[in-house]
Amino acid sequence: MSSSSALILFSSLLIFSLIYSQGNALSSNYYENTCPQVEDIVTQVVTEATKKDKTVAAALLRMHFHDCFIRGCDASVLLNSKKNTAEKDGPPNVSLHAFYVIDSAKNAIEARCPGIVSCADILAFAARDSVVVSGGPSWDVPKGRKDGRTSQASETIQLPAPTFNINQLQQSFSQRGLSLEDLVALSGGHTLGFSHCSSFNNRIHNFNNTHDVDPTLHPTLAATLKGICTLKNRAKNAGSPMDPSSTTFDNTYYKLILQNKSLFSSDQALLSNPKTKSLVTDFASSKDAFFKAFANSMIKMSSINGGQEVRKDCRVAN
Ligand code: HEM
Repeated sequence: MSSSSALILFSSLLIFSLIYSQGNALSSNYYENTCPQVEDIVTQVVTEATKKDKTVAAALLRMHFHDCFIRGCDASVLLNSKKNTAEKDGPPNVSLHAFYVIDSAKNAIEARCPGIVSCADILAFAARDSVVVSGGPSWDVPKGRKDGRTSQASETIQLPAPTFNINQLQQSFSQRGLSLEDLVALSGGHTLGFSHCSSFNNRIHNFNNTHDVDPTLHPTLAATLKGICTLKNRAKNAGSPMDPSSTTFDNTYYKLILQNKSLFSSDQALLSNPKTKSLVTDFASSKDAFFKAFANSMIKMSSINGGQEVRKDCRVAN
């Protein structure tokens, strides 16, 4: 081989390995030989936990989303604050809960196959199982994520806010390789769970110079929400279920958006662009179309890369 072709070969290999090492290649059979029981273990733990506490499924789904949007799906959201304040203690994450479910799954997995399964993968399985136990679709979770070593509360500012308009939402998603269709499908996660008053107060008090209440919010819902979230109500747990069937994963969320009965400005914003509006209409009229799109978009979101190690304890870097 001439020295110039050796040089070309060497540089191609270097470029290939640089591209490759930027991410951990995910695959569907990653634990086939090293921990074949892993998904059954997570399913069992999540099923038990959701039976005991109906708020667990929503919490785990949101936890996975918040993990993936900061530093990729690397379980950075699970790390505890030590010298620095971790993501977990950043403002949008103080309402995250059910971290104990991930700890239980991790303990059960470590007992069977120590040092093999990342916390990031466990969280991705748990999010899928939460959707399934709530009546939603299932999907094959790509595996092989690594856990990160860094978690900073200050970075939670990168999470989309409930006050975002469609352009801000689109930008937040596209920065992570996610499309407008992913945005509409994944927002369907708001079929599950609960929201605190602080997340929609902007719509019901001092909305703008001319309106106290967001004119795009249905008046009956506005009155109900104003009744719960009075300016005087300082109760920490005051708020509203995301939709009337908030423990069932269904397409009610999209039907509510079309009736101007969604909770957040960011939900309502999906009507302000022709493409997202038409997807909302599609998903409102077909649960099947929503389920398919949701599963596809979850696979995309949960493949955002990050992480370097397999943590021993999900709350502490090795
Ligand atoms: C599109 C941008 C999004 C924004 C602005 C947003 C914002 C929020 C906010 C403000 C809450 C209420 C938090 C509280 O008051 O306690 C919430 C709850 C929730 N979000 Fe989102 N979210 C978005 C996307 C997503 C995605 C992609 C998922 C999952 C696929 C998701 C799943 C959930 C779930 C399940 C809850 C209920 C949590 C619980 O009950 O513990 N959200 N979201």
